[in-house]
Amino acid sequence: MAEHQPVSLAVIGYGGMGQHHAHRIPKELPKQFRCAGVFDILEERRLAARHRGLPAYESRGALLNNPEIELVVVATPNDAHKEIVIDALEHGKNVICEKPVTMTSSDFEEMAAAARRSGKLFTVHQNRRWDSDYRTAKRVVDENLLGSVFHIESRVHGSRGIPGDWRNQKERGGGMVLDWGVHLLDQMLQIMGQRRLLSLYAQLTYVTNEECDDGFRVYCTFEGGTTYLVEILTSNFIALPRWYILGENGTARARGFRGGCDIVNVARWQELEAVPVQAGVGLTKTMAPRNRKNLRRSRLRQPKDDWAGYYRNIYDVLRAGAPPDVTLEQQRRLLRVIEAIFVSAQENRAVEVE
Ligand SMILES: NC(=O)c1ccc[n+]([C@@H]2O[C@H](COP(=O)([O-])OP(=O)(O)OC[C@H]3O[C@@H](n4cnc5c(N)ncnc54)[C@H](O)[C@@H]3O)[C@@H](O)[C@H]2O)c1
Repeated sequence: MAEHQPVSLAVIGYGGMGQHHAHRIPKELPKQFRCAGVFDILEERRLAARHRGLPAYESRGALLNNPEIELVVVATPNDAHKEIVIDALEHGKNVICEKPVTMTSSDFEEMAAAARRSGKLFTVHQNRRWDSDYRTAKRVVDENLLGSVFHIESRVHGSRGIPGDWRNQKERGGGMVLDWGVHLLDQMLQIMGQRRLLSLYAQLTYVTNEECDDGFRVYCTFEGGTTYLVEILTSNFIALPRWYILGENGTARARGFRGGCDIVNVARWQELEAVPVQAGVGLTKTMAPRNRKNLRRSRLRQPKDDWAGYYRNIYDVLRAGAPPDVTLEQQRRLLRVIEAIFVSAQENRAVEVE
């Protein structure tokens, strides 16, 4: 195949996310990708694809047997990922699987073994590594803008509970740990890099439903002592900031996915002139506000969300032999963290991880 031909991709599961892969990616990167068709088990979805000008295959086998398709994107509910990914790899296709790659480490190892046998690309759509708020938070840590960071909080708060579809069914891979959690935990492992995750303590919430967690909170301790809180909640009518990062000489806060990141740095740590102030019905010197002249306030502007970033790497992998940004080793580690979260919450104890 000529080096600069667009990659011919096909999507299995033409729901919300499948439509994103089928339409938005070829629109963003028209020279790199073309959509060669979709398959969905629902006839209405196949009809919808045809209405939007895409071929819709009548069976998964028909799609996988088309030799022109190089890349298959699996965007079905989570419980169907494993079988379809293995089938696609065994048909000689490169595969992108939606997150979470699957629900257990043992299932994941079967998928990874199929990838090894096939010699094809198998990777996972951890697209939120290209979110602008995350990239800004990572920059704060990587560029040491707060001095040595000792604590990070990463939150997403909504107020609508879990949507009443498969996300509400445990056997289908529902629940917020496997939904939003997978994104924020993947971001955490990227930010913390090679540092070992020593232990975690997790609690799941069941405010709006009984079967699947509609939220969770996990407190992680990394090698070197840095702590990291990840929290997803779906019954919040007042949301806490998306990011809150504490370093030895500064604090950063980003309120949402957009809008920049506020930073306050202290110029001189020691302030000998601190005097007690009134707080409530008591006096405090410890909590007295800092002298304003000793503080530097700044705002980091966020880059744009990079919708195509993940796929640019996929193109480079397939056409130029570049290494994938999202590797199976990273996914293996992520699943170990997820499994530790469920054990911790079930047994109400801290769990050693790495
Ligand atoms: N990366 C992201 O930002 C992101 C965002 C949303 C969803 N997702 C993931 O994408 C996947 C799909 O989520 P969604 O919100 O699009 O769900 P959805 O319910 O909107 O769509 C799923 C589609 O898959 C079809 N389907 C089910 N079983 C199938 C099978 N065996 N073969 C073919 N088609 C089948 C359904 O009929 C449906 O049309 C999930 O794994 C989810 O976690 C990722």
